[in-house]
Amino acid sequence: MHFQWYPGHMTKAKRMMQESMKLIDLVIELVDARIPMSSRNPDIDELGKNKARLILLNKADLAEEKWNDAWAMYFKEKGYSVVKVNSKKGGGIKSIQGVIQEACKEKIERDRKRGIMNRPVRAMVVGIPNVGKSTFINSLAGKACTKTGNKPGVTKGKQWIRLNKNVELLDTPGILWPKFEDQTVGLRLAFVGSIKDEILQVEELALEMIAFTLKQYPGVLASKYNIEEMEDSFACLVEIAKSRHCLLKGNEFDTDKAAKIFVDDFRNGRLGKLTLEFPEEYN
Ligand code: G4P
Repeated sequence: MHFQWYPGHMTKAKRMMQESMKLIDLVIELVDARIPMSSRNPDIDELGKNKARLILLNKADLAEEKWNDAWAMYFKEKGYSVVKVNSKKGGGIKSIQGVIQEACKEKIERDRKRGIMNRPVRAMVVGIPNVGKSTFINSLAGKACTKTGNKPGVTKGKQWIRLNKNVELLDTPGILWPKFEDQTVGLRLAFVGSIKDEILQVEELALEMIAFTLKQYPGVLASKYNIEEMEDSFACLVEIAKSRHCLLKGNEFDTDKAAKIFVDDFRNGRLGKLTLEFPEEYN
């Protein structure tokens, strides 16, 4: 399968992010817990250098817990603060405030030595499209907080959300585009739904997902669709079509419809918690 990716507003977004970086102390980077590396844009390390860094393994509810822990360890060893979160249901959100203070303790200490007390930490949320940035901001900010509006000395138009007296969050997240030369990364982004489906062939994608599931999570297809797992991905797709009564006129199986059902099940966690990449690939 070959992907093409046309990041329309990439340059503009990057420029805006560079501007925003000047205003903040902490970068809160969301990654998809199922594909923590493939869902990162490596430019963020350059953009966010000299800033405190917090990585959120978002959608942790959709990934296997033991791999969430392994990935958390992986990033911690590289010097990032890490929290596993489920922004949709609020899991992990409560611990964020404490982790923010911890991640920024050097800055807070520097401020204190210079006689600056109680200046809130300023943070920005960044991540690739669909990783959950808006959901996270809503979950963290809730309804209680107030937008602080434009402030003197702050670039016009920037809105800050005051989370409490200690933290302010830029209200618009920074969008990064996924970056890949290698097709594996593209495929993984497609698996989790971070590449627009219009540029993908759903049946081809489903066959790749089936091959992955058979190899990495044997038994999952059998129990979900009540089918016999066969080595041939297309044969499995036909079995899924049978099991889900996807029929065309003349009793032919509608593998296109079955592919759509399967891709949707896979992405929404209905096959169970699936981690799609593993830290040992990146050592
Ligand atoms: P973005 O701003 O980074 O582009 O992402 P956004 O918040 O719009 O989230 C993209 C999708 O991911 C949304 O689903 C959202 O509900 C879902 N999502 C975000 N965080 C989590 C999480 O921690 N766990 C799970 N399971 N899902 C999460 P959607 O299909 O676009 O909308 P909806 O079906 O939830 O209404």
